[in-house]
Amino acid sequence: MSYVVIIPAAGSGKRMNAGKNKLFLSVQEVPIIIHTLRVFDSDETCKGIYLTINPAERDIFQELLTEYKIQKVKRLIPGGKERQDSVYEAVKVIEEEGIVLVHDGARPFIRTNTIRELVEKAAEKKAAVVAVPVKDTVKRVENFQVAETLDRSSLWAAQTPQAFHISLLKRAHEMAERDQFLGTDDTSLVERLGIPVAIIEGEYDNIKLTTQEDLYFAEAIYLKRERRKEEDHV
Ligand code: CTP
Ligand code: MG
Repeated sequence: MSYVVIIPAAGSGKRMNAGKNKLFLSVQEVPIIIHTLRVFDSDETCKGIYLTINPAERDIFQELLTEYKIQKVKRLIPGGKERQDSVYEAVKVIEEEGIVLVHDGARPFIRTNTIRELVEKAAEKKAAVVAVPVKDTVKRVENFQVAETLDRSSLWAAQTPQAFHISLLKRAHEMAERDQFLGTDDTSLVERLGIPVAIIEGEYDNIKLTTQEDLYFAEAIYLKRERRKEEDHV
């Protein structure tokens, strides 16, 4: 089953504190955004990539796409103030019908198998999200005091990609804009329409590179994968 993907990359990476867009930082000497793009560029069921960027960084992105021979980026779309605004700008220009994925530029470790499973599920159910069961005990806190301990057995951490029928994602974003609703992911815009969103169990190493220490985790995840590949070839 084929799909197109929106990759928001228009953030500034404040929490990474690197003095530039964190997506230009390197892991194993390759920029993070290139790792992410390569996953989709090499997946034959991906029909196109819509990349939202900060217009001030257009030349940097263009040069990287050329240098690393990324083929499937159809458009570089100016993003907005919040992540949701950036995704919406891409949603507005999508030409295709069928399934669309939204995947953070800052999550380079997503696997093709998970993408396949997610796309199948979204085709069947209209909306699906990759998530993992929460490992920590999560507490709701008010003024640095525990207000409540949540039932861990029902808590999952949502990741990306998140997949939708394109018409549904469009409607969800239009409604969010109309109601001035700002969510931290795309399924929350669909949930508020009362539409069920299916879960695909993902992997804990599909991390979003957010703070400095995530760069160490990222190097470790790559080394682990390289070792696995070598073992598979023995
Ligand atoms: N993003 C975007 N447009 C924005 C904000 C974020 O396209 N206005 C993108 C980021 O580039 C990233 C993804 O959305 O690939 C997830 O956001 P996040 O991890 O929060 O990245 P940043 O917003 O760049 O980081 P921070 O919140 O620390 O500033
Ligand atoms: Mg952010």
